[in-house]
Amino acid sequence: MSDPYVQRFSIAHEYPVYFTRDVFDPANRDFVAAVCRVEPARRHRLLFLIDRGVADAWPTLCPQISRYAEQYSDRIDLAAAPVVIEGGEASKNDPVLVDDLHARMHSLALDRQSFAVLIGGGAMLDMAGYAAATTHRGVRAVRVPTTVLAQADSGVGVKNGVNAFGKKNFIGTFAPPFAVLIDGRFLQTLGRRDTLAGMAEAVKVAVIRDRAFFGWIQDHAPALARCEPDRVDQLVRRCAELHLDHIATSGDPFELGSARPLDFGHWAAHKLEALTSHRLRHGEAVSIGMAIDTIYSAESGLCNRQTEAAMLETLRALGLPLWDDALALRAPSGKLRVLEGLAEFREHLGGELCVTMLSTIGQRLEVSSLDEARIAAAIGRLREAACA
Ligand SMILES: NC(=O)c1ccc[n+]([C@@H]2O[C@H](COP(=O)([O-])OP(=O)(O)OC[C@H]3O[C@@H](n4cnc5c(N)ncnc54)[C@H](O)[C@@H]3O)[C@@H](O)[C@H]2O)c1
Ligand SMILES: [Zn+2]
Repeated sequence: MSDPYVQRFSIAHEYPVYFTRDVFDPANRDFVAAVCRVEPARRHRLLFLIDRGVADAWPTLCPQISRYAEQYSDRIDLAAAPVVIEGGEASKNDPVLVDDLHARMHSLALDRQSFAVLIGGGAMLDMAGYAAATTHRGVRAVRVPTTVLAQADSGVGVKNGVNAFGKKNFIGTFAPPFAVLIDGRFLQTLGRRDTLAGMAEAVKVAVIRDRAFFGWIQDHAPALARCEPDRVDQLVRRCAELHLDHIATSGDPFELGSARPLDFGHWAAHKLEALTSHRLRHGEAVSIGMAIDTIYSAESGLCNRQTEAAMLETLRALGLPLWDDALALRAPSGKLRVLEGLAEFREHLGGELCVTMLSTIGQRLEVSSLDEARIAAAIGRLREAACA
């Protein structure tokens, strides 16, 4: 047997995340600084893509962007007027939207040094981010996330994707953004339901990584449930920092291994989103998925009952759901449909199952198998707890 030639190189990734205010106010230089950070002397071509929900809620946004571009016309050049595209989960389910974006980037002759500036919620960022990452094998993407979930979690991370064949995120890439700008002002128009749903990801990262942050969420749950802007901003910032720290320090930013701690509660969540045809928001499904895995952890002796109670009480105090009737759906075989999510999760990881469970508040552990009868029992207990 001959020894192979071993090819080896590594690339350091770096992107700034700005926590800013009124990002397109001409007096605010953060955006232009972000775009010009690598080649400060150059004039950069930009295509703005805006989530329809954001454009509708902020009718002055497009003219504001045009004014901003005029103010910094020595540095930035709009390839076209800002384009409004569909947002929400439906945008990840419609392959035509990705084709349209590819066609638009082609007709505007965007090159690999051009920028796609993506302004929107997690779903639109995932879809348009995928289109940008696959145009010329990657045009530069600047993200301006506009929901709690996208600002605290998905928008600062390294993944994009769309749904296919009834599976969440079946198609997608790992593609670190060029820069991220987080402007809490956008959250003023986000509905209460989406604001609360986004908080589920903050509970997730707190419960698996940061006991003090979990305690902060518990202490401020009433204010958070009222969507008080200052508290929501604080939650977003801490959650984003933890998320970024995890990506930088976990040793597996592109998820090559099987452990996926940030997917706590997600095996059930992704299946519930599909089973409800996305009637449940991602964050709501994550809340229910974490509730199942918390009870499972307690039933298995991995965590104690106080941990279980603290977790369920915190989700409840934030106004997040613990139950959905889709959990009771059964296949003709009699098996709970949500259990299909386990096999799909294993397939997504590749090979070995590796599911994050709770050990105590702030600490997780990974298990390589789940007992389906015990999951079914946990779901039964969850129904009692949710209806109590
Ligand atoms: N890439 C990742 O790492 C990652 C991580 C977690 C979640 N996600 C994905 O994120 C998606 C969920 O994102 P989300 O919770 O942001 O929901 P969303 O993107 O579906 O947005 C919810 C709704 O709010 C609207 N909207 C967005 N910003 C608004 C604003 N400022 N004012 C008014 N309306 C606004 C949108 O148009 C949409 O109708 C899911 O598809 C999930 O899979 C991705
Ligand atoms: Zn998630």
